Amino acid sequence: MNKGFFRQFTMACLMLFALCTYAQQKVFVYGPNERAGLHIAMLTDKGWQEIGQLCSSDYGTWGPEKRMYHPSVARAKDGTWRLVFQVNDRAPLFAAAYSRDLVTWRPQDYPRVGTRNCLSPVLHAVGDGFEIIYTSDGKHYRVTTSPDFRHFSIGERVEDLQQVVGALQIEDHIQMDGKSYAGQIFEITPEELSTITTHFDRMKEDGRLSSERMHDDAKNPSMPKQPVSATLTVTNQQKAISDKLIGIFFEDISYAADGGLYAELVQNRDFEYSAKDRREWNATTAWHSSRPIRIATDSPLSANNPHYAVVGTDTLCNEGWDGINVKAGEQYDFSMYVRNSQGKKSFVIALIDEHDAPIAQTTLKTQGKDWQQYDAVLKATRNCAKARLAIMGVKETQADVDMISLFPQETFMHRKNGLRKDLAETIAAMKPKFMRFPGGCMSHGQGLENIYHWNHTVGPLQDRKPDFNIWGYHQTRGLGFFEYFQFCEDIGAEPLPVLAAGVPCQNSANNADGVGGQQGGIPMSQMPAYIQELLDMIEWANGDPSTSKWARMRADAGHPSPFNLKYIGIGNEDIIGTVFEERYEMICKAIREKYPDIKICGTVGPFHAPSADYLEGWDFTKKHPDLQYMVDEHYYESTGWFMHHRNYYDGYDRNAAKVYLGEYAASTRVKRPNVETALAEALYLTDVERNGDVVEMTSYAPMLCKDGHSNWNPDMIYFSNTEVRPTPAYHVQRLFSVYGGDRYVNSQLTIDNGQLAAQLKHRVGASLVSDSKTGRRYLKLVNALPVELSLTIKGLTIPAGSKTEEFCGRPEDQHIAVKSGVVENGTVTLPPYAFRVISF
Ligand code: AHR
Repeated sequence: MNKGFFRQFTMACLMLFALCTYAQQKVFVYGPNERAGLHIAMLTDKGWQEIGQLCSSDYGTWGPEKRMYHPSVARAKDGTWRLVFQVNDRAPLFAAAYSRDLVTWRPQDYPRVGTRNCLSPVLHAVGDGFEIIYTSDGKHYRVTTSPDFRHFSIGERVEDLQQVVGALQIEDHIQMDGKSYAGQIFEITPEELSTITTHFDRMKEDGRLSSERMHDDAKNPSMPKQPVSATLTVTNQQKAISDKLIGIFFEDISYAADGGLYAELVQNRDFEYSAKDRREWNATTAWHSSRPIRIATDSPLSANNPHYAVVGTDTLCNEGWDGINVKAGEQYDFSMYVRNSQGKKSFVIALIDEHDAPIAQTTLKTQGKDWQQYDAVLKATRNCAKARLAIMGVKETQADVDMISLFPQETFMHRKNGLRKDLAETIAAMKPKFMRFPGGCMSHGQGLENIYHWNHTVGPLQDRKPDFNIWGYHQTRGLGFFEYFQFCEDIGAEPLPVLAAGVPCQNSANNADGVGGQQGGIPMSQMPAYIQELLDMIEWANGDPSTSKWARMRADAGHPSPFNLKYIGIGNEDIIGTVFEERYEMICKAIREKYPDIKICGTVGPFHAPSADYLEGWDFTKKHPDLQYMVDEHYYESTGWFMHHRNYYDGYDRNAAKVYLGEYAASTRVKRPNVETALAEALYLTDVERNGDVVEMTSYAPMLCKDGHSNWNPDMIYFSNTEVRPTPAYHVQRLFSVYGGDRYVNSQLTIDNGQLAAQLKHRVGASLVSDSKTGRRYLKLVNALPVELSLTIKGLTIPAGSKTEEFCGRPEDQHIAVKSGVVENGTVTLPPYAFRVISF
């Protein structure tokens, strides 16, 4: 062989090798362990190299239950991907997911296959569809699927193992960093690989930006040491924006309702606590007596409240919610239902202190063998933060007692069955434009049985249906739909009830069939009744009492005029899987048909772009433009994330559905609102105002948290029985709400030093809005820099004497004082870490 030929041959081989390498990139998809989800590695000249996590299990309760066993991946003829995995060793289902590019996945479906459990599912393409072989109790089963991977057959027994042996042998093994892994090798194109690596590079960069903290500014070389000057240039351009931008999110979480906003002072007034609420609870929880408390259920006051207590000469003491905060001179409305087995009975009703000494006392005479409600007023003679309520039976005659209640007469707006005044007034001071209720996860509930049914929460208190709360306690439903709507009206907020989309919380635990998460949704046979329930709610809120039984119920409760409901939310950050989409569509169609003027708000999952539910939710929304008016987005993120994503809504399609940013909050490792989180939220909100033509509503979440009963941090308002502590986050919300407008006036805030501008622009913000009804204008300015910011304002004259409200502090300060002032001579200088609103 001559040398020339050899060289040519070698060159050709190398080119061919390069071409092959160019055309084919080997990747390995695998689950490193059941908690790690699905990963991908690529083959390099140094061997296999990890790229990152492609997706993780979304099945079952939060935390360690979300596991992925035996992931099995297959590729369709059109290049799209499918994944199945086992979720645990009990559930009669497997998880199924779909992806176009391996990095973004459609939310997972969990098809039930009809066998006791479903182990080691193996997936392979068959024709245009797919087949899954799995085992259950040592036997093999086959499931077939539709090509779009949305519909799955029931498992069919495979008698002849030879038929499926090939399908079961699709596992590859590799060595990476000295460890061996089982998974599957696929060949993809360089473009496909580049999509994957670019995705991970972006996520990494996003993580880097999101880790920026004001708290670390002293060590941050890009932060200035000297005052910074900037110019705010206001132009004549204006646009209409939402006049409902800032509202509130009310969820019964962290004792926000019972023991919180709902002013009832007696805990477990109906003796309905049970182990369903909390393992160690029962009908006598929060009640004390020197004798065993007798609980009975024969002929109860209401079938929905089957338990009551039987009293002779016992003294029943109620501990309240961490005690009862009693104030000298104030009057308290006591009431209880009594049934006398022996004709009549007297009780001494008292408020007592820690030493059992009375603070208020009265006698209650009762008679009659039927359940009857009795009232009394207790006037406190002195202050006591930890009082208890005592009910003493005077003679040995037996009486049944239930619905033992104590309310301060001083409720918000003196409403009966009302709200705690100081808390409600703090909320009202925000002038929220709408209120979302009753949650959150509490709306869709822990499993199908715990979905919130609005009609269980209206009518006489004793007939309302108590239930456990997904957050680990009890809901009396004393604060029910009537009270929510009444509160909205009292504070001038649009009601925004959010009810389940026919699926419970995706984090629900397993039900009796071993099915967790969305639990397959409300069975289709029961969906018509559920849909009717939602329609009834609209009728109840807006209907005419002379023609509608639901509206008559509202009128009987004291509100003959309609509540004028305009919005309804369907679903709360659900998995936007097939089970959800089918039910959501049915519900929306029915509401649109019967109440075309009601604006429906859908959901796009629990997280922002590019999460699976967000992408699928928006995709579905855009494919069904007639179904909903807006969609609910949720994201809880770091302060760095908020500062670096201020353009989040800039590219949103103005012709698609509007956005309701229904749950968000910035947090740091401390998990409490402070000046840093508040400024990050304020910066973000200046840009939300700028995008107020597409963002219709926003609400910080959660709103309330009672000391000692926290399910979640950070929250907007912390409280105990004796105090209400609005946080810096509250003040940002309040200032944006009180000084909101309906027109956005275009302006640009530019840091004067060109070199600093790029590196600091995310730390300063300005937004000018006007209110077309009053003609007033509101300029909001945020300085999240560690130094003073002085502004030159062009195109706008701020009259001297214009009023200001502002706060400033150190990033870590959790308490701030909001100061009022006036603009003195038209110049505007903000101290470090400051937020100011100027009104003129
Ligand atoms: O706001 C607290 C919880 O966060 C809500 O219940 C839920 O929707 C979200 O996950």
